[in-house]
Amino acid sequence: MQRNNNQASMVLDSQLQAQAEREITLKSERVIKDPFRLHYHIMPPVGLLNDPNGFVYFKGNYHLFFQWNPFATDHTSKFWGHMTSPNLVEWEWQPIALTPSEWFDKDGCYSGSAIEHKGRLYLFYTGNVRNTQGERESYQCLAVSDDGIHFEKRGPLFDVPTGYTAHFRDPKIWKEENQWYLVIGAQTEDLGGCALLYYSSNLVDWELKGEVKDPTQDYSKFGYMWECPDLISFQHQDALLFSPQGMKAEGFKYQNIYQTGYLLGDLNRENGCFKHGSFEEIDGGFDFYAPQTTLDQTGRRILFGWMGLPDESEAHHPTKAYHWIHAMTIPRELALHGHKIYQRPVEELKQLRNEKVVEKSETISNGEINYLPQNAEAMEICFQVKQFEGEAIILRFDQNTTLYFDSAEQTLTLTRANFRTKQKESRTTKLQSLKDLHIFLDTSSIEIFINQGEKVFTARLFEESLTRHLAMEVTGSLEYHFRGWKLNKVLN
Ligand code: FRU
Repeated sequence: MQRNNNQASMVLDSQLQAQAEREITLKSERVIKDPFRLHYHIMPPVGLLNDPNGFVYFKGNYHLFFQWNPFATDHTSKFWGHMTSPNLVEWEWQPIALTPSEWFDKDGCYSGSAIEHKGRLYLFYTGNVRNTQGERESYQCLAVSDDGIHFEKRGPLFDVPTGYTAHFRDPKIWKEENQWYLVIGAQTEDLGGCALLYYSSNLVDWELKGEVKDPTQDYSKFGYMWECPDLISFQHQDALLFSPQGMKAEGFKYQNIYQTGYLLGDLNRENGCFKHGSFEEIDGGFDFYAPQTTLDQTGRRILFGWMGLPDESEAHHPTKAYHWIHAMTIPRELALHGHKIYQRPVEELKQLRNEKVVEKSETISNGEINYLPQNAEAMEICFQVKQFEGEAIILRFDQNTTLYFDSAEQTLTLTRANFRTKQKESRTTKLQSLKDLHIFLDTSSIEIFINQGEKVFTARLFEESLTRHLAMEVTGSLEYHFRGWKLNKVLN
């Protein structure tokens, strides 16, 4: 391992920090005027945010780093932005953690993860480099900190192994009995996506154990690259969560440009052999990608996702006119029930609740109810179906956004307006029965947790806030309980 804090790159690092700070100063007045600025989701102060990185609980605070381009609302330059929170609700902006200032990360400090060891915080990230021929090079790097705020880069740790291309990135580390493992996204030389398993006894020297796969299975449907793998364990079950690129749509499944999902099974830590079940998408909505989890000090497995995707709709986000784009999802707690990972908003989010604007328990037959005829920008809704006999339950959130449960088809469909064409578009999931919905609405987003979090839909919505209302239409007879709170604004 080489130390690489030479004079020139330290100068560049402080120049980049200063330039990024200047961008914030110059543009933040315009940024915070955006009516689509979210009220309680993490956003970049300016520029583009993508993957959550280095999510960890360290010395009394949650630390969330993220891919951040401070200079433009595109993917040209990547820093690690940094926020901390004592409670997952209130977040404080911290100095930039990593800038692309060294030869091994000069074209981007790409995604990675964090772990605490003996009171210090270790960041593992991918240094992205374009060489003089314009070819991609990828370095798996370490940076260390005593206070969790200022990081010292230690340079590259290991190379791309033989048999794989330079699409080799996004190390996610975890610890088991004083030993460390990491999984990393990779591409085989015959252009198949995969994840590799590494082992270390000292956090510095890393040994390749193998591909995380069941050697008897065919992985050709899983595309050409797996981004942001994360290996999580629930008692005696392991899950590989990853974001494959290049999967083909299959019925209602895999409708977005890239997917995110998991394989549940049993990982052999010695050779990567992974006996697993089928691939399950983790979010059925339009805007969800590259999530990362951490095990916090209370033993909970908490996830943040990027509430976005690098697809053609990026060009049409209206927030770009205000010099920013994208946000994180709310933090979600994961739990395994049977063979499925369930997601639920973390308990702490109750602290966001302000006035309860609706509470209703009743039975209705064939009718429409308006809960909130006027504007409600940021809201939490709990909807419980006590009994339903009929054809459809439709919730309307604004003039274009609806959630439609069709009991004959056993489907649930989220519809919104496409950002570019304004035409309606939808995502559908199979659902035998609708038992409950837990919904988080923000000025320009919706996150819908279905049947205790068995399924989730995440989407950005860019409707004029004046059209936001809340109504329900029922065909059949429905006994239900409905509660809604306005939520406080804690971020801007
Ligand atoms: C996923 C990803 C990662 C990469 C990062 C770059 O969205 O493409 O694979 O490290 O974003 O910003």
